[in-house]
Amino acid sequence: MSVAPLHRLYNHYSELPFSMRILYTGALCILGMGYLFGMLYLVHVYSGRDGKPGLSYEDLVIAYAGSGKGSRLESALRGPMSSMLPAEEAGALVNWAQKGADRPTYETFIRPTIDKRCMSCHDGSNPHLANLGGYDNIKKVTEQDTGTDIYTLVRVSHIHLFGMTFIFFIVGIVFSHAYVRPLWFKYLVMGLPLVCEAVDISSWYLVKVYHPFAWVTMAAGGLMGLSFATMWFISMYQMWIGKTPSAVLKRGEDESVVIG
Ligand code: HEC
Repeated sequence: MSVAPLHRLYNHYSELPFSMRILYTGALCILGMGYLFGMLYLVHVYSGRDGKPGLSYEDLVIAYAGSGKGSRLESALRGPMSSMLPAEEAGALVNWAQKGADRPTYETFIRPTIDKRCMSCHDGSNPHLANLGGYDNIKKVTEQDTGTDIYTLVRVSHIHLFGMTFIFFIVGIVFSHAYVRPLWFKYLVMGLPLVCEAVDISSWYLVKVYHPFAWVTMAAGGLMGLSFATMWFISMYQMWIGKTPSAVLKRGEDESVVIG
């Protein structure tokens, strides 16, 4: 049986100093915790945006591309706030918001309506209700929902590109000591998350242009998590529980390895 010999720079965990295994294990535990908290945060931030519990395709589209349903003011006036004022006054408010919510019209026509119909609740005294007093406050609720803005995406992108690369570089280095066959599977698990990182982050922007890219965001994120878990468990298992693979045990008997 001819098996390709192990690379001379390859070391199995069992050949590493104990100190390195301690460091690797500690790093994997902390990164694993970090990953769990990251996922909790992600579910908390994105789920339920479409009005249904749980994280779904629609939630991501709304987060990145906006709901496409106009401003918060519009949806409130069509929904829960519709009983607060006569329909024609509501129509005038929506009209004004859609036309860009300018200040002169606000001062002459809009402010009286707001003061009369809305300020009894929205005067800012209740911290749970949007404060609608003054032009700047109401302007905020008239902005169209176009999803996360580009500046925020750029900021989050660069943090993720740096941060995730550190994570997958460290976990990949640890995992490189694992004995995994077939080898292509090992290469795949190590390389895939870095590809997914680039694809995932690019897809955030592409969702704005074409909504179904949200599927790409989800798939890339899922594959990243799967690769992380695979590397984590195989590394931990081989480091502390599994037996030393026979190919590694045999290399000591192989003369060619001794050279250099
Ligand atoms: C009787 C009290 C009351 C009055 C009067 C009232 N609101 Fe509200 N408003 C609420 C409450 C309570 C909520 C939160 C309801 C919810 O989240 O379903 C709310 C929510 C809103 C929201 C959604 C805020 C957000 O975070 O998306 C907007 C916009 C709004 N109101 C606008 C108005 C306007 C405009 C008027 C006047 C025409 C008005 N409201 C009159 C009680 C009131």
